[in-house]
Amino acid sequence: MPTVMTPTFNNVTEVHQPTLLAPLLDPLIAQFIQHCPGKLSALVDHYGSPLNLVWPHAFKLNAAALQGVLKHYNVAHTLFYGAKANKSQSLLAAAAAMGIGVDVSSLHELHAALRAGIPGQHLCATGPAKTTVFHQALVDVGALICVDSREEIGHLATLLASRTASRKARILLRYRPKSCPTSRFGMGADDVLGCLQQLAQERQHFHFEGFHFHLGGYGHESRVQAFGEVVAYVDAAREMGLAPVMIDIGGGLPIRYVDPQRYDSFLRNDNNPSHYYNHTVPEAFYPYGSQLTASQWLALFLESDCLPGQTIAHYLQSQNMTLALEPGRSLVDQAAISVFRVTRCKKLANDKTVIFVEGSSFSACETWFSSEYLVDPILISASAPPHTPTHAYIAGHSCLDDDVITYRLINFVTSPQAGDLLIYANTAGYQMDLLENEFHRHPLPRRITATCCTQGHYTFLPDC
Ligand SMILES: Cc1ncc(COP(=O)(O)O)c(C=O)c1O
Repeated sequence: MPTVMTPTFNNVTEVHQPTLLAPLLDPLIAQFIQHCPGKLSALVDHYGSPLNLVWPHAFKLNAAALQGVLKHYNVAHTLFYGAKANKSQSLLAAAAAMGIGVDVSSLHELHAALRAGIPGQHLCATGPAKTTVFHQALVDVGALICVDSREEIGHLATLLASRTASRKARILLRYRPKSCPTSRFGMGADDVLGCLQQLAQERQHFHFEGFHFHLGGYGHESRVQAFGEVVAYVDAAREMGLAPVMIDIGGGLPIRYVDPQRYDSFLRNDNNPSHYYNHTVPEAFYPYGSQLTASQWLALFLESDCLPGQTIAHYLQSQNMTLALEPGRSLVDQAAISVFRVTRCKKLANDKTVIFVEGSSFSACETWFSSEYLVDPILISASAPPHTPTHAYIAGHSCLDDDVITYRLINFVTSPQAGDLLIYANTAGYQMDLLENEFHRHPLPRRITATCCTQGHYTFLPDC
């Protein structure tokens, strides 16, 4: 158990890295945690707990890595950052700085992306229930619209016919892959062909650009399969005189939160009811120890065949098609940490211990999806040795019985005390702010943009 002592916070500050499910950390963030726990404590004192520290440099590294793979395979490409993964404005600004687009799912995300400096033509809108005002705004800024249904294209046609402005709507059709026949998202064969006919007939309103799909899960194989299915619709569209130029494969590229071997070992040896306070092992987890990084996933995808003897990369090149991706989680890999202050450590009747933190499981929310965040927190402790090892689960400060951050009993080398900090790493992707709210009238957690200016020097600015 690596423990680093620094003299900056009270008398002694110790940074206790967990060993069972230790988070993989971006080097700059790791350095900050190890060397500046006093600064972290001062920030929490100032801004409150929990505190989300957002690190846009990590976003830029992730975008550059994916761009590198796409360039290596020499395929025309467009990245749309899935802005639903995180609400931080500084990450949209990072997308703008990297020259990539944004996938927006609401009028509010659209406005935020424009405010960050993303050009309207670099936006693409997904989601099945876009409102008329959202459609209107998308057409006005020249964004791509992923049409989810024949009903949606009907609404769009009515809207466009009623406008005096002559702007066309730029369209991708959302295909529902055969692997998910009952999904409410996208269209099967008949509806896709019906939409193509309408697009061919109503060229005064529509500019058709191609196809889109998004699948649950994180396997590249299911995307390869779906891509192969879409190829047939590209041919069908061309036969109708349309000119598709893009296939957008949505998001779902994986993140590696913990070392894959460690994760496998945890699943084999430590993931049983006795390791959970509620004696219940969740049925499903995100693959926290992914065997593949997002870049490796993308390379495998591009090297896979979509037609007999033809890889996806070759198909895209030979057909002059652009590959679009909408990564959310994988672009924000490492782009935030969430810091909770401990309020109390309480012994329970069954000889177990609960740690209460200031803040709630709405800011680290996997338990609300009947799962667990299988990444151990880092403890910043101000208590001097000797240490009393503790096994404890972690609960939020609300009166809800279900306000539990982890039912899993975490091994601490020393018992956390009031005022200590627990750091959850890598929370930018759907963890820190998906469910956040003002329950009990506690203000929303603050988010602070952290930047490393020179070696060991950081700036912290409110993210807005
Ligand atoms: C249409 C669409 N695109 C992209 C994404 C982003 O997926 P991920 O964060 O897994 O990359 C989602 C997530 O739900 C989505 O629905």
